[in-house]
Amino acid sequence: MNNNIPLRPLQKLCALCGLNKLFLHPQPEGGLKKPLTLHDFLLLAMDTVVSGIRSTGNLHLGNYFGAVVNFLKMQKENNCFFFIADYHSLTTHPKPDDLHSNIKQILAEYLACGIDPDVATVFIQSDVPEVTELYLLLNMNAYVGELERTTSFKEQIRKQPDNINAGLLTYPILMAADIIIHKANKVPVGKDQEQHLEMTRRFARRFNTLYEVNYFPEPDAYNFGKQLLKIPGLDGTGKMGKSEGNGIFLADSPQEIRKKVMKAVTDTGPQKPGEKPSEPVKNLFTIMDVVSDPSTVKYFTEKHASCEIRYGDMKKQLAEDIIKVTDPIRERILQILADRKYLARVVSEGAEKARASASKTIREVREIIGYRPF
Ligand code: TYM
Repeated sequence: MNNNIPLRPLQKLCALCGLNKLFLHPQPEGGLKKPLTLHDFLLLAMDTVVSGIRSTGNLHLGNYFGAVVNFLKMQKENNCFFFIADYHSLTTHPKPDDLHSNIKQILAEYLACGIDPDVATVFIQSDVPEVTELYLLLNMNAYVGELERTTSFKEQIRKQPDNINAGLLTYPILMAADIIIHKANKVPVGKDQEQHLEMTRRFARRFNTLYEVNYFPEPDAYNFGKQLLKIPGLDGTGKMGKSEGNGIFLADSPQEIRKKVMKAVTDTGPQKPGEKPSEPVKNLFTIMDVVSDPSTVKYFTEKHASCEIRYGDMKKQLAEDIIKVTDPIRERILQILADRKYLARVVSEGAEKARASASKTIREVREIIGYRPF
């Protein structure tokens, strides 16, 4: 900020976003060409946060603790963009009838979790066509070799060998476009997205180098300085996923949750005191770590260490602690899904705010690349 400009305190809240920081508003001699609003100033002083979730099924505990919990923690202090990655969902060829309902479900789940559309920009990826232009432009600076080496691509071609489409290959480029189109600094995601963020940084850096500019910031995968989370599934191996059949969903009823947890894979029990938990049991402890009281985790850890643990008791406790987290959200999901007017308002206001930010970037990027008016 220009230090020569005298400052005077502004006592109002920002009417656009409801942010409640007292801010110093510069009053230059002769005025600014286009006066900046308090909202503009708040945005300048904040980090920009972008993150999204694919609309490929209901949100599960992995999405919630890996991503959404941080969305909630970040939404008031940052300029946040949270979206539904429906273009990304097209790699699995959803049926047209399912596409819309999947988007609507994730939107209702975002809101039910507590994402506040009056504070954060909540939008649907396909409502911002500017992102596809940036995706195209970034495609020219991404190399087939590096895309083919991406872990998620290799996993996906194993999962869907009959549908290895180019969208799977260029998935990290679309994701980079989502992020840098808003010039994000922080991207709250789970561990599985770490490599995509490295690629995003590389694509941003490459653009800056190619055009000799310092235009795109290099965003970081973010979890408040802690390790990114990987919430495991209930099947003993691997992470919880939307389509792996190993997940607990925010929309699951208490009965479903109890049934799933009681069926979770464990082992025959520790054989000698102090034995380390096996992989499936460690997974249950990892879930317990995020949903239960630390004293509960301590109790069962000690029971395991002394070989007195009864997995049935642990599972019962775990199921109840999960339900305490999910049940209030589940009820709100149902209410919000029934409120079509509210959903429509959120979507249209979100699209407008996201497009304003994205179209500014596209204008500037075109200029940098060399598109000039005749
Ligand atoms: P998706 O839809 O697979 O997952 C959404 C978010 O949930 C996190 N997550 C997990 N975290 C911990 N443990 C788990 N088991 C677990 N499963 C999922 C993911 O890390 C992610 O944060 N490519 C993204 C969507 C996307 C995006 C973006 C994200 C598109 N563009 C731009 C951030 C920024 C994806 O497939 O997420």
